Amino acid sequence: MIHLLATGGTIAGEADPASGGARYTAAVRPVEALVAAVPGLAADALSAEQVLSVDSKDMTPADWLTILSAARRALGGAATDGLVILHGTDTLEETAWFLHLSLPPGKAVVVTGAMRPADHPAADGPANLLAAVRLAASPAARDKGVLVVMNGTPHGARDVVKARTHGLDAFESAAAWTSARPDGRFADVDFAPLPRVDILPGYAGAPPDLIDASVAGGARGLVLALAGHGSVPASWLPALRRARNGGVAIVRASRCAGPVIRNANADDDGEGWLTAGSLPPPKARIALMLSLAAGRPFTSD
Ligand code: SIN
Repeated sequence: MIHLLATGGTIAGEADPASGGARYTAAVRPVEALVAAVPGLAADALSAEQVLSVDSKDMTPADWLTILSAARRALGGAATDGLVILHGTDTLEETAWFLHLSLPPGKAVVVTGAMRPADHPAADGPANLLAAVRLAASPAARDKGVLVVMNGTPHGARDVVKARTHGLDAFESAAAWTSARPDGRFADVDFAPLPRVDILPGYAGAPPDLIDASVAGGARGLVLALAGHGSVPASWLPALRRARNGGVAIVRASRCAGPVIRNANADDDGEGWLTAGSLPPPKARIALMLSLAAGRPFTSD
């Protein structure tokens, strides 16, 4: 039995008549309607649950915890062989990575969405849903951690990114999904509300006041999405040192693809900074939130 958790997104979206076809509203159709739209789905081998109905730009860390408890409950059931999660594409890679770190490895977990709403004449949701259910039912998807499937292509949760705003091929990853490894390092943790961790973008002239504002707002961690190889602007140093001295965890990351190497172009050890390695800033943020919540060291592995 494959269990389906629906959370909204374009896959459940419909055109907005008021916009004359220019826009659509995400998260309109219930999961039963999405399943009914896929002729090839064997309904008797599926169970389905509407967990949330949101446009994923509005997904919050509290929503992640709601999805996590539904997913843990479903995976704990002896009848569940695998899990499929329907999600908006905008923050799909964040939820996939969050679950990759916090669900027990073993049973297949596959996340999918759609780039076109459900009432589009060439909607991609039904094919993505079918592909996700088939992948979740396949032995090949076991022990890979959380997978994402879009446009006929599976991806591992660690590597996948939404790389383009448009097109059915919006998702890509640097490594083949077949090499994905399970994680689940926080599968034993019951998270209370997750701590606030902010991402601060680096760009020419970026003001350091944003650092103080984040800390004053209650951030327990900062991920610096910096230019180049995670290059820290000199004007940020005093505010970063204030934050660090106040116990705020700081991760040096890059807005470019590719690794940020520890102590390579900054004194990470001297400043007490962490480094994101090859994790993009949104995924480094999630790893830091979970590490802080669990009281365990942050790792970019
Ligand atoms: C969303 O992320 O919920 C809307 C956009 C999409 O699913 O493609």
